Amino acid sequence: MPRTDPLIEKARAAASRAYSPYSRFRVGAALVAESGAVFTGCNVENASYGLTICAERSAVFHMVAAGETAFDRIVIYTPTATPTAPCGACRQVLNEFNPDAEVLSLCDGPDVLRSTVRELLPGAFGPANLG
Ligand code: THU
Repeated sequence: MPRTDPLIEKARAAASRAYSPYSRFRVGAALVAESGAVFTGCNVENASYGLTICAERSAVFHMVAAGETAFDRIVIYTPTATPTAPCGACRQVLNEFNPDAEVLSLCDGPDVLRSTVRELLPGAFGPANLG
């Protein structure tokens, strides 16, 4: 288990900053972009529930706002007993910026989920579909 991965601490710190008063479910994400720069995100909920943004998309949007459009891997941390895989919407957004990126989900228990975006979203609709 890659517990020394520097992205893990960043994802953990991001989860501590989650704004999740409604679900009380904290999620932190940290990704390494193609340049090597690290971007983080946490879930940010809203009183109008549907406007909630997930940690993974927050991290990706930070990356794009900084001028990068590809990432190599993302670590997702939840302070839970079992790891959390990205939701469907986040899988679609991750796919946009590298279907072959590694996705690692960690928690406070021993279990780890390791996959690629492509494995999480087979047969995805993506940029190539638009010609
Ligand atoms: N959440 C994430 O941040 N990432 C996911 O992949 C799953 C769900 C957040 C959204 C909401 O704030 C809370 O977790 C419960 O769904």
